[in-house]
Amino acid sequence: MLTVTDTFTLTKDITLKRRAQEQVELLNTELEETNRELEAFNYTVAHDLRSPLNLVYGFCQMTMRICGEQLGEECRRYLQQTQDGILRMNKLISALLDFSRMARSELHRESFDLSALAEVVATDLRLHEPERRVGFRISEGIMVDWDRELLRVVLGNLLGNAWKYTAMRKEATIEFGVTEIDGQATYLVRDNGPGFDMEYADKLFIPFQRLPEAMVLKGFGIGLATVERIIRRHGGRIWAEWETGKGATFYFTLAE
Ligand SMILES: Nc1ncnc2c1ncn2[C@@H]1O[C@H](COP(=O)(O)OP(=O)(O)OP(=O)(O)O)[C@@H](O)[C@H]1O
Ligand SMILES: [Mg+2]
Repeated sequence: MLTVTDTFTLTKDITLKRRAQEQVELLNTELEETNRELEAFNYTVAHDLRSPLNLVYGFCQMTMRICGEQLGEECRRYLQQTQDGILRMNKLISALLDFSRMARSELHRESFDLSALAEVVATDLRLHEPERRVGFRISEGIMVDWDRELLRVVLGNLLGNAWKYTAMRKEATIEFGVTEIDGQATYLVRDNGPGFDMEYADKLFIPFQRLPEAMVLKGFGIGLATVERIIRRHGGRIWAEWETGKGATFYFTLAE
């Protein structure tokens, strides 16, 4: 039998709990709102930066074409470096737009061959750097029922990283396949590059986080964050395992 004091304490507890719940709901709504605003801001800034950049690039080209002869060697080099900088900035803008788009674009599910898509990405990488000796081992016939374009971005980034971070290997090997972990189909991309330090595990999927040795390879540090967003939208998860000097393996799952 409850005493008056018990009932009072219980009612107080319930009221406090309800209030706390309301606070959490309010905070969540505010957080979602802020995230949406931030996304819109990112998108607009990235998008609007394009036109002035293209203008500067265009004027650099015209200056080179019209005044190129009169300019000294040094000035021509400066102009060239300005153009290189603009091209790199344009790439960063594209990466930011991609990152932003991944949070908003609609998912189009279709059944397709993920192995064939991996082959296409591998061929693309080879075409860009035909002098590199990289052996791809791609398991055949991996069928999935998900968004093809988004998974192309995933494989583009994972295989692209594997390609980039094995640059110092004379004989690089990159593997794409599927295995079963805890009863779930788990896709993997493995390379025999330098791998990375365990202490950076949490940082890999955060935008603009690059490991010290990767700075020289001039990435932006946005690729894996984009991949993580896509995988999360597919109801899956992604993680990495590695051993320094023995290469890296990235695993991801997709919801059924
Ligand atoms: N296969 C890999 N082997 C070793 N390090 C890797 C590998 N993949 C990713 N990393 C590390 O994780 C960091 C984040 O990868 P991410 O793809 O996000 O950025 P990035 O490749 O530097 O630039 P980008 O935005 O052009 O992809 C990299 O800078 C690198 O330090
Ligand atoms: Mg990358």
